[in-house]
Amino acid sequence: MSDVYGVLLVCLGNICRSPLAEGVFLHLASERGVSDRFLVDSCGIGRWHAGEQPDERAMAVAKQNGITLPSLARQVNPKQDWDRFDLLLAMDYSNRHALLKLGAPEERVRLMRSYDPTLNGVTGEDLDVPDPYYGGADGFGRVFEMLERACDGLLDELTR
Ligand code: 4NP
Repeated sequence: MSDVYGVLLVCLGNICRSPLAEGVFLHLASERGVSDRFLVDSCGIGRWHAGEQPDERAMAVAKQNGITLPSLARQVNPKQDWDRFDLLLAMDYSNRHALLKLGAPEERVRLMRSYDPTLNGVTGEDLDVPDPYYGGADGFGRVFEMLERACDGLLDELTR
């Protein structure tokens, strides 16, 4: 593997949580001046939304925070993604389970919120980033805040 560290953000549809996580991670990495150390992408377990832009509520909350969401949805691509990415970050337990069933190397699969330093000691599904797809705009705001804390903690760990 190269010096660039690969981070893949994974959710179910790749239009709400993981593209937001990707945008937040890229934004915080840029603020820290470490963007060039990372290869960052996101994907979904499912392929329903492949080729689509993120959900407009995800783009709206990102825009309110000065962040643009760069990538179009795609489905996880097992062999290629296991080769390219050092860390496979699942947004929830169900996504984690799906990645493992698809053969992802277990030592590289982690839950996004396990990097939130304020959640020390929290385990199980309490670590899920809740799926905001069927809820209102407020759900996206809460998800954004969760992702900010988790990405900040992740960057602390990866740049230590
Ligand atoms: P995401 O949310 O996994 O955070 O992108 C979802 C988006 C779409 C669907 C499910 C979850 N869907 O079933 O279409």
